[in-house]
Amino acid sequence: MHRFFSLIVLCAICCIFFPSCSQNKGEKKYRIAFSQCIGNDAWRETMLKEMKRELSFHPEVEFIYMDAGGSNEMQIEQVNALLKEGIDLLIISPNEAQPLTPIVDSVFQQGIPVIVTDRKTSSGLYNAYVGADNYNIGFLAGQYLAHKMGGKGSVAEVTGLPGSSATIERQKGFREALKPHLQMQVIASLNGQWLKDTASKMVALNMQKLANTDAIFAFNDQMALGTRLALQEKGVAKNLTIVGVDALPGEGNGLDNISKKLVSASMLYATGGKEAVQTAVAILQKTPYQRDNMLHTLVIDSSNVELMKMQADRIDNQQKDIDEQQKLLDEQAKVYRNQQSVLNILVLSLVLAIVFAGVSFYLLKSNWDKNKHLEHQNAEIRNQQQQLIEMNDRVKEASQAKINFFTNISHEFKTPLTLILAPIEELLRTSELNVSAKDQLLLIKRNALRLLNLVSELIDLQRLENEKLKLRASSQNVYKFMHQIAQSFKPLSMQKNIPIQIENRSAITHLWFDADLMEKVMYNLLSNAFKFTPKNGKITIRIQQNTFGDYLVIRVIDNGKGINKAHIEHIFDPFYQGEYSTGGSGIGLALVKDIIELHHGNVTVSSKENEGTSFALRLPVGDAHLSELEKSTPEKDKQEKGISEANLFHTSLNSADQGIDDGGVPREHALLIIDDNEEILRFLHATLGSSYQIYSATNAEDGMRLAFSKVPDLIISDVVMPGKSGIELVKSLKNDTRTSSTPIILLSAMDTEEQINEGLMSMADTYLTKPFNVNHLKTIIHNLIANRQGLKQRFVSEIVPSNDTDGASISTTDRRFLNNLSALVEQHLGDSKFGVDAICKQIGISRVQLYRKVKVLLDCSVNDYIVNRRLKKSKHLLKMDIPINEVALQTGFSSPTYFATLFKNKYGISPSAFKKQQGDYS
Ligand code: FRU
Repeated sequence: MHRFFSLIVLCAICCIFFPSCSQNKGEKKYRIAFSQCIGNDAWRETMLKEMKRELSFHPEVEFIYMDAGGSNEMQIEQVNALLKEGIDLLIISPNEAQPLTPIVDSVFQQGIPVIVTDRKTSSGLYNAYVGADNYNIGFLAGQYLAHKMGGKGSVAEVTGLPGSSATIERQKGFREALKPHLQMQVIASLNGQWLKDTASKMVALNMQKLANTDAIFAFNDQMALGTRLALQEKGVAKNLTIVGVDALPGEGNGLDNISKKLVSASMLYATGGKEAVQTAVAILQKTPYQRDNMLHTLVIDSSNVELMKMQADRIDNQQKDIDEQQKLLDEQAKVYRNQQSVLNILVLSLVLAIVFAGVSFYLLKSNWDKNKHLEHQNAEIRNQQQQLIEMNDRVKEASQAKINFFTNISHEFKTPLTLILAPIEELLRTSELNVSAKDQLLLIKRNALRLLNLVSELIDLQRLENEKLKLRASSQNVYKFMHQIAQSFKPLSMQKNIPIQIENRSAITHLWFDADLMEKVMYNLLSNAFKFTPKNGKITIRIQQNTFGDYLVIRVIDNGKGINKAHIEHIFDPFYQGEYSTGGSGIGLALVKDIIELHHGNVTVSSKENEGTSFALRLPVGDAHLSELEKSTPEKDKQEKGISEANLFHTSLNSADQGIDDGGVPREHALLIIDDNEEILRFLHATLGSSYQIYSATNAEDGMRLAFSKVPDLIISDVVMPGKSGIELVKSLKNDTRTSSTPIILLSAMDTEEQINEGLMSMADTYLTKPFNVNHLKTIIHNLIANRQGLKQRFVSEIVPSNDTDGASISTTDRRFLNNLSALVEQHLGDSKFGVDAICKQIGISRVQLYRKVKVLLDCSVNDYIVNRRLKKSKHLLKMDIPINEVALQTGFSSPTYFATLFKNKYGISPSAFKKQQGDYS
């Protein structure tokens, strides 16, 4: 493609410059040389001017001009040089005929055309002659003088160079014309060498000879002038007739001399410059031409000189016009050439534009094709990507479904385990059991706990793999920690007679780890070691550091049966059922691996069959590898402990029993229990039924209905239930006036931090995780109800409960209810008939709801509340000077006696005594 472009550009440039090149070459098609014998006189200058003017019409001619300065040798030399240089034609005006003939002949003989002008060679070998007839010139001069002198007298000649043909021919013609006139004599012939000064000199030298001369024929006007000046200088008479040749216009030339009467006449001698060039071009162009081009001549004297001068001036002016026009033409030609160049450039640009447009179109099209192809490929790739994304999503969904299933089913296990463990706890507390029954119960309890542990591990594994389990590492004393772990295996160690030995070979005392998680790791490794080590075997916990001291390696080594090579590489795979894990779940070691990796460490195993197994935990020393989130700070610990203690989600089934003073809780307190699991309902009913009145529901909707109609003192609800969830239920109950102050306990197997938080955010008072400790539950129920009662006391006797009374404990809904109630009672204090019915009507709730609500919030009956408010107001009125009867009336007591009785019961003093007392004080 690049080559193609270069070629186009080259062609275009050639198109622009080639025509002008070829034109230039055409202009300089012929080399014409002009060898001039002498150049520095007016006649020769005129000749050259004429030639150049004519040459301007022939741009194809290269013109070379040589001036020999009147020297034969020089002229020969110059012609030779021209021959060497190479010329197409030679025009020559030979200085003298004889000396120049050989060289001119040689040029002619070489086939180079020769034009002889003005003067001739002696051989006559040339192609053409251009000039006037010099014989005729001389003849005319003779005739003129003979006529002027009346055919008698003496004449003298001043000749040009004797060897030049012009001299020879003019002399011949002159003498020939005088021949018939016998009384005319040529008395002197002086060689003026064609030059004015030479002529003057010769005349001055020969004055004696010329003393009796009547006329002089000078062979050119310059010599005629020189002759006149010399004669004038010698004081020779003015009437001596002098005749010259050439008759050039211009000052000091022939015509001017005639006008000034310095010479009598001049023979017109045309230069023939124009004709010489015309003939040369004709020869070179091979068009017909004449060999002898004789130019006309005539005699010019005082009779026609003015006419001739006029004509000459006219010609000169015309010539000037022509020159001017020629100049204009040249300029036009220049403009034309410039325009031609511009046009050529424009044409080139156009051609290039078309070519580039074509190329661009071609490139665009090929790009378009390529783009289309790429687009097609892109679409295919996008399609494949989409398919991959969809597949990935499906895989994720399936995986998530699997995880959810695992987690849910694991949580599901917790409820039946609660139902197994809780009654066992209850049974074990009773002392009536015999030893065997107790043993059996303990066996059930142990296995239930094992099962619970397995479920917990499964959940932990899922959480680890879903990156939901976060590391809470703190700096721990490794040896102390290992010692405590070993201690917990002491019963087993003694039972199987397998001692656990701790070898501490490291100087590093502390390591950053999560003690809860590390406990699980060590528990699993040691359980396995005990499982596969025969009685009287040995288990070692070895603590070592690596060479650089940046890692601590904790090994659990046994001398048991070892692991088969085929199984060893899968030993950490979740749910792997190998020889080593026979009877196990395949969870423990997978959990170990995940926990150690969570600690940025790794776990390896080496084993030899029948010799033993060694697990090595490699953990980084220091805390540089832990992020701030992975560290457990005292604040975080406190926070977590707070949550843990407040909500008891981290319940241990083995924790010590805590007694509850059942007698302290009145039987009339009602609990509403909502759980879709009827077993749980039955169990809780059986456990709590002796202390509380129990209402139960198996879904949130029924639960809500019971909550509104029965207004229980406390509600216990499951979280996950068909239909409305426990969390939604809490939100609804806490937002309703009737139940907003009722304490609610959420009871659930959902035990992640997020789930617990979500439950608490719904305004549940407590979140308990399954399996729960029954005694803890009882205590929580007791405390929540007692707290609520304490709160109530503060409102009982207040006229209007203030906002800051217990702002933190009363909900807005409750406060609004109390405010409404207070305002209503205050308004109707004087109305003895005002009571429960009127309040229910005004507030819009049922009698039961009103009773319950007032009981819950104020811990008294509605009537008690109204009476208290009346008595309080009466106290106030009694202080003022109002009669007792009137006070009783104003505060809605139907009779003053009834008022007096109630007042005395409440304040321990009769209204009259109180009034008197007030009066005394005042
Ligand atoms: C000029 C000139 C003319 C004369 C001619 C003869 O050099 O002397 O005056 O007519 O040469 O060749």
